[in-house]
Amino acid sequence: MYIHKKPSWYLPDSGVTPQAAYLGRRKFLRTLGMGAAATAFTRVPGISATAGFPDTLNPSFKLSAVKLTPYDLITTYNNFYEWGLSKDEPSKLSNQGWKTDPWTIEIGGLCANPAKFAVNDLIKAVGGIEQRNYRHRCVEAWSMVVPWDGFPLAKLVTLSSPKPEAKYVQFTSFLDPKICPAQRSNDFAWPFTEGLMLDEAMNELAFLATGIYGKPLLNQNGAPIRLVVPWKYGFKGAKSIVRIDFVATQPKTLWNQYAPDEYGFLANVNPEVDHPRWSQRSERVIGGGFFSSRQPTLKFNGYEKEVAALYAGIDLRKNF
Ligand code: MTE
Repeated sequence: MYIHKKPSWYLPDSGVTPQAAYLGRRKFLRTLGMGAAATAFTRVPGISATAGFPDTLNPSFKLSAVKLTPYDLITTYNNFYEWGLSKDEPSKLSNQGWKTDPWTIEIGGLCANPAKFAVNDLIKAVGGIEQRNYRHRCVEAWSMVVPWDGFPLAKLVTLSSPKPEAKYVQFTSFLDPKICPAQRSNDFAWPFTEGLMLDEAMNELAFLATGIYGKPLLNQNGAPIRLVVPWKYGFKGAKSIVRIDFVATQPKTLWNQYAPDEYGFLANVNPEVDHPRWSQRSERVIGGGFFSSRQPTLKFNGYEKEVAALYAGIDLRKNF
């Protein structure tokens, strides 16, 4: 995805809010029984009002051995090409008049229960949200650990009741060339689309995120709802989704159409398969500081036990 005019490969760690300070404040407010008030209180104007907060961490997804990436880095070091090609642009340009609340998401295609939902109603329909800490690995060989809030994609799939012919799920991001200048150009095949096989979508790890660190998603992270597939490269995680469709054949996806030799449909994190232009053996830890800034890449991003069975009999070198 290095078509960057100005790759911002290194971000200084100065100016980062220490995580302990942030968490300490939340714990303090929760002790006072003000968890909900804390969320409302910390809301920045323009952040979409997403239901379900405060939520609680699902202990199965605590990831105790790793350090969470500070909120300031997760929300200022972004890939969201609709809002600029460099990492610092989405946090600025997506907050200049783009409204992500109210927001409607439409579920359709080969399913028994097509529906249109306001995001808050969808959250209610799936029974609320939870927190999960996931490793987040970009195909560009950088990584973070993000505490997402949201719900398992499998809940939405079950609610929609896909027909037997449905084999894939397609995700479509917003399209609004009036407000988004990049979408007035033909540089990319807008809107951004991504896809999963249906059994991948049913895996317990596949997640629809509506928040980070217990706060509604900011525009730059894909407000008000985006996909998170932690064993795959980050580009699978379509942001600001407006449609989810059940389809019979492998859907076209933006990056795969743009450069099929570089961005495969499966896009599973794999240290054994290099990108044609760089190694995937190691990754740069965003916010890792000078001495711990690189670490080895883990197969399936560390989720091999949970997902390897999905690819039994598939040659992951050919199907990258
Ligand atoms: N979704 C849309 N609509 N547009 C994008 O450019 N970039 C993808 C993915 N989802 C992208 C997108 C890429 S390349 C990555 S690595 C992740 O979003 C980055 O998510 P983050 O900015 O929240 O870390």
